[in-house]
Amino acid sequence: MLVLIISPGYPADMPHFTRGLVEVGATVLGVGDSPKDSLPEVARKALSGYLQVRSLWNIASVVYELRAWLQGRQVDRIECLWEAAMLLAAELRQALDVPGLTVSATLPFRDKERMKQTLDAAGIRTPRHLPATTVAGCWDAAERIGFPVILKPIAGAGSADTYRVDDSDGLRDVLPRLAHVPMVSVEEFIDGEEYTFDTITVDGRIAYYNIAWYRPRPLVARSNEWISPQVIALRDVDDARLAGGVRMGFDVIRALGFRAGFTHMEWYRKTDGEVVFGEIGARPPGAHQVDQMKFACDFDVYREWARAVTFGRFEAKIERKFNVATIYKRAQGVGRIRAIEGLGELNRRYGEHVVWNTLLPVGAQRRNWKQTLVSDGFIMLRHPDLVETMRMADEFGANLKLYAS
Ligand SMILES: Nc1ncnc2c1ncn2[C@@H]1O[C@H](COP(=O)(O)OP(=O)(O)O)[C@@H](O)[C@H]1O
Ligand SMILES: [Mg+2]
Repeated sequence: MLVLIISPGYPADMPHFTRGLVEVGATVLGVGDSPKDSLPEVARKALSGYLQVRSLWNIASVVYELRAWLQGRQVDRIECLWEAAMLLAAELRQALDVPGLTVSATLPFRDKERMKQTLDAAGIRTPRHLPATTVAGCWDAAERIGFPVILKPIAGAGSADTYRVDDSDGLRDVLPRLAHVPMVSVEEFIDGEEYTFDTITVDGRIAYYNIAWYRPRPLVARSNEWISPQVIALRDVDDARLAGGVRMGFDVIRALGFRAGFTHMEWYRKTDGEVVFGEIGARPPGAHQVDQMKFACDFDVYREWARAVTFGRFEAKIERKFNVATIYKRAQGVGRIRAIEGLGELNRRYGEHVVWNTLLPVGAQRRNWKQTLVSDGFIMLRHPDLVETMRMADEFGANLKLYAS
């Protein structure tokens, strides 16, 4: 089993997926645009070969360089878990005659208009939506859908360039900020709670799924720096309030014809209980939420994903033992972290439940909180009881303070 993995060093989880492939018995080659020496050690150790290409974004030249490098060796799988390179992976599969997601099967995961059209045709409830490429098109779409609306790029990520607009004054303000976005999706604004439905799928069958709850919703978290956003992997996925989302999740995987790998879907539950589709990617969630799954059920998520995509099997026995909360922290002020307050007391009280602490140390430069959900680091904690998990998460949100200057 010869697997080619795209970008084995980035994003942060990729070295572990690469390592997982080797652990299930695959031989793994990597392709990327960074030098081999700059790859994290976990990835470097796992790879049997690595091709550095000049750019990952010139597909024809990547195909050419890969062909020359492979010297006729047939690759069995081409894997990619990085949103930006999903289409590249599909093009490479087609060029090198490798099974897996084709270009046409990938597009509904990449283009949010095509995604919703495909799901509409399967009878899945999506927000009312219209594509727009011009200012006039946005006005027309907003009028037809009715305020409040959401405007977002058809291929966005991380809530970038995403706006809630409540009335025509708001639309007038927002449109100039979208001038650089070639195509936007104008959507009915759905008020409610927001969750994920993440899967490892084998042969079209969902072998494992995870539901995480965003506190607050990502767009709110990204619009307010003072918030310490939380993502909580839920232990009780059989809770009646989640049932509609689980059903939708299964329907969506079927409607998109997804066969093998990780998926990350988002969905909304309105106060009246109605469940509405948000979006889906053919990859895992970011911001260390794969590790969150690992801590929720104590299994090696990376290795089981690898087994699923290579040998079509999933062997872990899933025991949902914990809720896991990740609390992402943002320092107050700009520049370098000057002080961290409250951690000693919080650790004294809740330390036994904390599984991971990645807070930047004093002296480190702050990260750009708009560009990375990880912000200035996070605390990950777990507990079998959800109310207790939320209570502890809120304590870390409110009483752990980072200052920068
Ligand atoms: N139709 C909608 N109604 C309400 N909120 C939305 C809607 N679409 C997007 N959002 C908000 O914006 C966030 C980002 O949008 P999303 O479609 O998930 O794109 P991204 O790829 O950037 O994550 C969502 O998590 C949600 O909080
Ligand atoms: Mg999203």
